[in-house]
Amino acid sequence: MATKTADFRDWARVQQSRTESVLHRVLPGAEIAPRRLHQAMRYAVLGGGKRVRPLLAFAAGEIAGADPARVEIAAAAVEIVHAYSLVHDDLPCMDDDVLRRGKPTCHVEYDEPTALLVGDSLQALAFQLLAEYRLADDPAAQLEMVRLLATASGSRGMAGGQAIDLASVGKALSLPELEFMHIHKTGALIRAAVVMGARCGNSLDQAQLDRLDHFAKCIGLAFQVVDDVLDGEASTVTLGKTAGKDAEQNKPTYVSVLGVPAARDMASDLRDDALEALGNFGPRAERLCQLADFIVLRKF
Ligand code: IPE
Ligand code: IPE
Ligand code: MG
Ligand code: MG
Ligand code: MG
Repeated sequence: MATKTADFRDWARVQQSRTESVLHRVLPGAEIAPRRLHQAMRYAVLGGGKRVRPLLAFAAGEIAGADPARVEIAAAAVEIVHAYSLVHDDLPCMDDDVLRRGKPTCHVEYDEPTALLVGDSLQALAFQLLAEYRLADDPAAQLEMVRLLATASGSRGMAGGQAIDLASVGKALSLPELEFMHIHKTGALIRAAVVMGARCGNSLDQAQLDRLDHFAKCIGLAFQVVDDVLDGEASTVTLGKTAGKDAEQNKPTYVSVLGVPAARDMASDLRDDALEALGNFGPRAERLCQLADFIVLRKF
């Protein structure tokens, strides 16, 4: 067991460092004009974060026999959209946070207009990558990846979930309403990471893709349930972002609605459901199974 955990950690470290290199390479250089914007984009993306979405893309790519050189671009695209979502999430007009990934937030380090433009530019860069690199043999499969990321990022995905989050401050949401919000604001991009990683390969049939998608839906929701728990239970130092924000800002979360023990139970049930969906894949799914455990058991 200890060896398995160490083995997963080593695998994750290799993929994280691969992710860092590709992000380093695809982001515009800090010396290129407009320098301040490019510096701020690099500040927001590089040198921090757990890189969970890229890890999921690489693990799903392994299941589908995908070339990691293709998966790394899909992984970078999703991580860049995620980084943009964090920059905007932290703005004073949204969660008004000053700390992210252990550093001052983008608008604090730079300024608000720059942070706004960092988000705009990162989103565009993500789609530029999907258009510039060959990610699948079949152009239709590549186009499907563009559609997946666009849907997951926009009003039917992350941005829509963020709109619900802001509209829900001070409200008592029902469990289905809470689930709807979380599936959109966080689940959608996680789902896109898994499915896009798999689509870089070509060895999965539709039924297998559907099972993988079910896995991704479950762990995407579990991810935000655990984020809610950690916001209430972990420290600012451990999280690298301000702890206790949800209660302070009167946000409905799985903790405010269910309490910590039931929220943890829910995350654990979602993990079981996710793993069940991977049952037929056998050893090829080992990394995805380990990631499901990481997502539910993480401390930060
Ligand atoms: C934080 O995401 C915001 C959510 C969507 C819950 P992560 O916990 O993945 O943040 P980083 O990328 O590791 O900083
Ligand atoms: C953010 O949710 C979801 C995003 C789309 C960025 P949170 O507001 O809970 O994320 P943190 O806790 O600030 O990372
Ligand atoms: Mg938020
Ligand atoms: Mg926030
Ligand atoms: Mg949170």
